[in-house]
Amino acid sequence: MNITVVGTGYVGLVTGTCFADIGHNVMCVDNDARKIDMLRKLKMPIYEEDLEDLVRKNVEAGRMHFSTSINEGTDFAEVLFIAVGTPPGYRGQANLSYVEQVGRQVAEHMTSYRLLVEKSTVPVNTGEQLKRTVTKYLREDIPFDVASNPEFLREGTALKDAFQPDRIVIGVESERAASLLRNIYEPVVKRSGCELLEMNMASAELTKHASNSFLATKISFINAVSRVCELAGANVEQVAHGMGLDHRIGSRFLNAGVGYGGSCFPKDVDAFVHLSDQLGYNFQLLREVQKINQAQREHLMQKIQHELWVIENKTIAVLGLAFKPGTDDVREAPSLYFIPQLLEAGAHLRLWDPIASPKFEEIHPGLDYRTDIMDTVQGADLVLILTDWPEVRDIDLDKLKDAMRTPVMIDGRNIFDPKSVREKGFTYYSVGRP
Ligand code: UGA
Repeated sequence: MNITVVGTGYVGLVTGTCFADIGHNVMCVDNDARKIDMLRKLKMPIYEEDLEDLVRKNVEAGRMHFSTSINEGTDFAEVLFIAVGTPPGYRGQANLSYVEQVGRQVAEHMTSYRLLVEKSTVPVNTGEQLKRTVTKYLREDIPFDVASNPEFLREGTALKDAFQPDRIVIGVESERAASLLRNIYEPVVKRSGCELLEMNMASAELTKHASNSFLATKISFINAVSRVCELAGANVEQVAHGMGLDHRIGSRFLNAGVGYGGSCFPKDVDAFVHLSDQLGYNFQLLREVQKINQAQREHLMQKIQHELWVIENKTIAVLGLAFKPGTDDVREAPSLYFIPQLLEAGAHLRLWDPIASPKFEEIHPGLDYRTDIMDTVQGADLVLILTDWPEVRDIDLDKLKDAMRTPVMIDGRNIFDPKSVREKGFTYYSVGRP
């Protein structure tokens, strides 16, 4: 089947690659000519493990094409997935101008039936708005459908999530749309054995917001518990383990730390709060989730302040700039909170990340970016861990201690065992552990 995917960010490119790999003919469209140019040269505009190899394989098999033209994409396929950005806009609401623009352009160009599928995370009722947009800009009375098919993939494991999803959710309003989407996903459903759930569009849109908000709530919950643990002399890891073995709770997303970041949770929770407000419900629980997330960063900052007393002229090695391991994405990463504050306080910063440094440098040019961990920590007064990269987990603690001026470690990801690190002579602070 021919499929067009509009938007070549994390969601669009991974989705398009997955569709091509299961046998469909895919055209990936993006109005950013630079990105399309890179893709044509088989260079990835984002980092995702194995993506480059899979794109190459499918391009060489003739199943993946790239274009900057929505019109070309509209001619190419009956089904168009919209995976463009929905960045935070006015007062925390998602900015849907890119979604609208795609709807308008497709409507103005299409000459026969088209199915527009929203894949980007969008507020409930975006499908309805998209329908109105298409109707408004259609030149003649051509049949079309709009559907919602929210994406649940995680950066860093995006391809695995795309091929082995926990579930596929489609929000549809006609049998024609449902049947097209069932056909597209049939190979994934067969291979993974996952369920394909059909519901109305509003329910599909809400499933996505509610899922991300629930996961963010789980993280903030355990982070709040970690604060109580610190006060009570308990260990949050043991508490989380004890909780997680209850199947009704589940052990995943109960890792206390520096708080959630990324392009999804902060934006989606915020958008859900605003959307609920608009609909007439004050989602106070989620407002609290946001506050706890912010407070977690401030709390860690206080630990730095407490330990160093005077931050000015201290050398701080920051390990990890990405919002989590396995990605070069720094959107809403904890590093974006700590680094400006530490700079303002007069610290000398050395920054290390195995892949996210170039993206961070676009926002903070001219800082001291290093590629070798030992070189980064040499002579440092404090090491601040913000991302649980394997390289950080594997660090030789004896060498680290010898390299630092004063062996102080603030671990925002609870990577090390407090007892053994302290036995090695470190002053060690982590999250929610005695
Ligand atoms: C998240 C969801 O997990 C995906 O299902 C969803 O499709 C995606 O958003 C999206 O909406 O597109 P992602 O943002 O890639 O995926 O990353 P996660 O693995 O969910 O992690 C988010 C943040 O939570 C990271 O900063 C991570 O470090 C933090 N986290 C996660 C914790 O602090 N503790 C945990 O136990 C788990």
